[in-house]
Amino acid sequence: MRLAPRIPFKRVIYVKCRNGWLKASGEDISLFGVKFSLERWEECEDKDWVKLRIKFNGSEATLNGKIYRKENSIRGVVLFNEDDSFLSKTVGRIITTRIKDSRTCPYCKSQVNDDDDVECPNCHMPLDFTKVDLIKALRRIKLGDILSGKVPDLIKGQICQEEKVEFIGTCDCMKKVFDLIRKYALTDYPVLILGETGTGKELTAKAIHEKSPRRNGPFIAINCAAIPKELLEAELFGYEKGAFTGADKQKRGKIEVADGGTLFLDEVGELPLELQAKLLRFLEDLSFERVGGTDRIRANVRVIAATNRNLEELVEKGLFREDLYYRLKVLTIELPPLRERGDDVIVMAKYFLEKFTREQGKEILGFTDDALELIKSYQWPGNVRELINTIRKAIVLTDKKYIDSGDLDIDVEKLSKDISGKGIFNLKEHVEKLERELVEKAFRITGGNISRMASMLGVSRPTIYKLMEKYGLL
Ligand SMILES: Nc1ncnc2c1ncn2[C@@H]1O[C@H](COP(=O)(O)OP(=O)(O)O)[C@@H](O)[C@H]1O
Ligand SMILES: [Mg+2]
Repeated sequence: MRLAPRIPFKRVIYVKCRNGWLKASGEDISLFGVKFSLERWEECEDKDWVKLRIKFNGSEATLNGKIYRKENSIRGVVLFNEDDSFLSKTVGRIITTRIKDSRTCPYCKSQVNDDDDVECPNCHMPLDFTKVDLIKALRRIKLGDILSGKVPDLIKGQICQEEKVEFIGTCDCMKKVFDLIRKYALTDYPVLILGETGTGKELTAKAIHEKSPRRNGPFIAINCAAIPKELLEAELFGYEKGAFTGADKQKRGKIEVADGGTLFLDEVGELPLELQAKLLRFLEDLSFERVGGTDRIRANVRVIAATNRNLEELVEKGLFREDLYYRLKVLTIELPPLRERGDDVIVMAKYFLEKFTREQGKEILGFTDDALELIKSYQWPGNVRELINTIRKAIVLTDKKYIDSGDLDIDVEKLSKDISGKGIFNLKEHVEKLERELVEKAFRITGGNISRMASMLGVSRPTIYKLMEKYGLL
């Protein structure tokens, strides 16, 4: 992924040469350099360094640069050799104005709503390149940093959203999920994703989008539970100027921004009833009205909804419209809780350990057996999200080469309240495990001789019979 956006720049650029200024034709420009064609490169004053004159927004700037690469005899790239403050006022301004004019995010290509948006409403990448700090931050990032996950905090969260995230699943139930993702991606119907918090509902929605023909369009997420009821309608459907106090200009909603792509409605169970009706209407013919507007606007959007609530129950209580429920539930994906995914929890724990260790630049080699056992037996009520946070924290806090169970911040209280009652501290389970091991050992050594086993283990012959029966040795 390109961090400093490059935009087309088909303008005349003047390049200083021995006999004055030569005319070159620009191709594209980024904060750090410009690409252009020049017929007479050989006339440039110096082989490496050049001066460029570039017009921007009516005025002109002279920039020093270093020839980075000549692609062929005419086309070349010059890297600017100017300080960031100067770049922000010249090239930064050109790029920012161009983005505003095109109303397109240079990173994810989704539409940008407002002139004064400083970040993309979809991918949250910054859009105002007149800020010196931003240029500084972008300059510090190297490709190696991105690959190894060491991206400065300033824009790290935003970049993570752009990266392809690994979707881990080896158990049969996750294989079924992956199969459904592939199949659903080929259709344009709404999808309903069900699952406890942290099971990967948003990840699943993104995966469907990525595999669908809409993959080059925007993926817009909105969390119905996180936005106050009164604002949700305007957020979703947009509003016209004057629709309510403070609506001093028209604003497009998430549905419009998602045009050509996918809209992810997280926590759809929290959608107020009035908005459920409006959403249903939208799903019927893909048209809607902005708040305060009368025109029906069309948006080519695929809706994916998710919830951790029991929608059927909400329908029974009259909190969720039955017709909307039926409309959404045609294509459903149920994400199993992490505790039901067998060894996936171990696979994931190892994966995240390696990933975050690299990120934090620490030297941690793995988990102890103890830690793995705890990870396996814990119920993970917060699912993958909780696993990620626990491992991240353990890596930060430990001074050891191997993470042990004490490094894992797992609430033992919670553990003992596990639904199945079978946690790592379950005495009966541990005693039985040891008992089985000893009985089997004695069985092997004595060749199954009851008397010798009895004296070896210090119990009576009838007890040996019982134990052998219990562990399937008879
Ligand atoms: N199977 C998986 N493999 C890798 N990462 C996962 C998996 N499932 C979830 N995650 C990660 O766990 C976190 C929570 O997932 P998310 O999709 O936000 O869950 P939900 O929306 O169900 O609460 C995210 O960081 C996500 O990338
Ligand atoms: Mg979520």
